[in-house]
Amino acid sequence: MRYPTYRPRRMRKNEKLRGMVRETALSPDCLVYPVFVKEMSEREVPIDAMPGISQFSVDGVLGEVDKVLEAGVPAILVFGVPEKKDETGSGAYDKNGIVQQAVRAIKARFGEDILVITDVCMCEYTSHGHCGVVKDGYVDNDETLKLLAKSALTHVMAGADMVAPSDMMDGRVRAIREMLDLHGDYNVPVMSYAAKYASCLYGPFREAAESTPQFGDRRSYQMDPPNSREAMREIALDIEEGADIIMIKPALLYLDVLSQARERFNIPLAAYSVSGEYSMIRFAAAKGSFDLKRAVIESTTSIRRAGADIIITYFAKEIGTWAKERTL
Ligand code: PBG
Ligand code: ZN
Repeated sequence: MRYPTYRPRRMRKNEKLRGMVRETALSPDCLVYPVFVKEMSEREVPIDAMPGISQFSVDGVLGEVDKVLEAGVPAILVFGVPEKKDETGSGAYDKNGIVQQAVRAIKARFGEDILVITDVCMCEYTSHGHCGVVKDGYVDNDETLKLLAKSALTHVMAGADMVAPSDMMDGRVRAIREMLDLHGDYNVPVMSYAAKYASCLYGPFREAAESTPQFGDRRSYQMDPPNSREAMREIALDIEEGADIIMIKPALLYLDVLSQARERFNIPLAAYSVSGEYSMIRFAAAKGSFDLKRAVIESTTSIRRAGADIIITYFAKEIGTWAKERTL
């Protein structure tokens, strides 16, 4: 096949032809929308670093879930910001903690209409802001596992449909799976943040979740950005430990990792388009660098093209609305 017999431009002549040979489609069915719930008196507080995204009280989040469903988005990922933090992050596994309260309220109101996934981590709840128990300045792996398993169980007891550990401790998928199974919750899937990199792109999130580490950084547990073979080992481990869905995070700067994982593993793959990706697009579009909608569609489609089944994105409501208007 070569020019002049073959002319690739023939099939790009108009939208109908382009539509017929389009290889990747974006649909709200695969989207997850992150929400931040906070123990506070205000119903909603906007996050400066993420225009369009807010923290909500338990009451306030119900209105937000209404909008998510209105946009045709099937799932949310819940993050909690507690009123008080302590050394061992006890708010994370408190039966009446902020996430547990929010999940109960959301499930009471919406039931099966919404899929509620909870982020399982310690950093929002610890006074030092690290994702586990700190001993002599180092995050202790095995002590942390116990608390993560307890947190996951309290989320499920509150009604969570799925749990998503984001801490990057070794062995946490198994610890959580065993804990849930022990309590008869063998039908609740675990979506593991299997390859989570120590990325600068979490900056805006840390304002939203109030989870900036008070000393050091997360590089002793999150992955080193230059590594992709290591990501394949992390994923293999989590699958062995019982993960149902494997996540790669961030998305846009790690599409190569995503496509490698797609080729290698036969398991649902999720990609988290993180806060920094959201902010880059929002701020650049607001300054007129490009059109917001086109940037959102192109970037989100690229994540799907690279191999993601599930995409966690702060643009989920917008994408869902465009799909409804049939302008996606
Ligand atoms: C908590 C957690 C983080 C994100 C998801 N879960 C922050 C971090 O690890 O520092 C980042 C999400 C985002 O940036 O949108 N461990
Ligand atoms: Zn964390």
